[in-house]
Amino acid sequence: MRTQVGIIGAGPAGLLLSHLLHLQGIDSVVLESRSREQIESTIRAGVLEPGTVDLLAEAGLGARMKAEGTVHDGFELAFGGKRRRVDLVELTGKAITVYAQHEVLKDLVAARCAADGALYFNVSGTTIDGIDSDAPSIRFQHSGAEHTLHCDFVIGCDGSQGVSRAAIPEALRQDYEKVFPFGWFGILVEAPPSSDELVYAHHDRGFALVSTRSSTVQRMYFQCDPKDSVNAWSDDRIWAEMHTRVDTEDQQVIEGRIFQKNIVGMRSFVSTKMQHGRLYLTGDAAHIVPPTGAKGLNLAVSDVRVLTAALQEFYRSGREHLLEAYSETALRRIWRAEHFSYWMTRMMHRLDGVSPFEQQLQIAELEHVTTSRSALTALAENYVGTSAV
Ligand code: FAD
Ligand code: DHB
Repeated sequence: MRTQVGIIGAGPAGLLLSHLLHLQGIDSVVLESRSREQIESTIRAGVLEPGTVDLLAEAGLGARMKAEGTVHDGFELAFGGKRRRVDLVELTGKAITVYAQHEVLKDLVAARCAADGALYFNVSGTTIDGIDSDAPSIRFQHSGAEHTLHCDFVIGCDGSQGVSRAAIPEALRQDYEKVFPFGWFGILVEAPPSSDELVYAHHDRGFALVSTRSSTVQRMYFQCDPKDSVNAWSDDRIWAEMHTRVDTEDQQVIEGRIFQKNIVGMRSFVSTKMQHGRLYLTGDAAHIVPPTGAKGLNLAVSDVRVLTAALQEFYRSGREHLLEAYSETALRRIWRAEHFSYWMTRMMHRLDGVSPFEQQLQIAELEHVTTSRSALTALAENYVGTSAV
């Protein structure tokens, strides 16, 4: 088998890259270890920055997102029994769109299939060879047979558990990591929205987030021990915790049938450089943010934007300067988002082990951020993804 760009992983990064390359007349093959049903049903992100929405729309992927996603002009920060609104549109001129990641994936898979794009699900044994040469290749198994995909470039879009990052020699890599001692308990609920906008709540018992998926399905999260088990949480216990952390005198979380529960750990991670020879990494394969700032999916999209332009330039003119600059260009935005996500996480969560003095500082910071216009503007710019990098 031969293609121009061999892509490992059919998450948002891999599928979007393949689609954008196709629009530029560049051939690619996508190899995915899971099934189509699995990737289209895994519940993850929900918040799309305006830049992500524009890119998807320009690439012809906007129809369902526009029809089924919801535009949010702001969100709320809740603490000390009050809610303070962050008016994104007034502060930045931009809004975010809530549209589930697996819906973006369905749109991308449909677009690749409509264009007869080569997309292999259920592959195993993915191995990368020859990235130091001009003729790298990917070996993999599919439907019981061994295959070798020869290509000009290998792009690792295989998420945090993939094989691509390890193909860059450890001596040439510098990894930065911060593991948080808490996780998020996520639920999907059959209920009407509890609030018109997302609510990020800071409470003595821990963080909670009220998000949405549609007029009948809601997404909520609350801070938990990352080693906890979903089975330890009855529905009654979950609702008691959500009410305690989020309710105010005049607004209560609306309960409903909980039909999915999961726990995710939280960490910050950046691996540099994001390239070596003919191998390039994008998205979660190279970096992770804690979900508090809603940046992970948006960062994957922004890596893909930078890499597509570099590959396009290479195939158009043979010039490699954008490819050479890929890691450096992408990392500017990545570090901005890493800082924002870390800052939001530290401001919003219960930090066990910190002194009462530091707990008071957290409240002082929330007061400042929600009352100073310049602080609110900085928060809003980072949230919608328009802060200068
Ligand atoms: P992935 O989505 O992880 O895709 C990688 C793909 O590669 C997977 O399908 C995997 O099966 C495949 N793969 C792995 N190894 C191999 C292999 N060896 N061979 C072939 N295929 C392989 N981000 C936001 O922007 N906004 C949010 O609101 C948000 N909320 C989140 C909430 C939660 C609870 C979680 C967990 C994440 C959230 N994120 C959010 C982060 C976001 O989901 C990720 O950053 C995003 O999925 C990254 O996309 P990706 O394509 O880089 O990687
Ligand atoms: C959602 C996830 C996030 O990480 C976030 O910050 C906001 C919303 C969500 O899944 O809806």
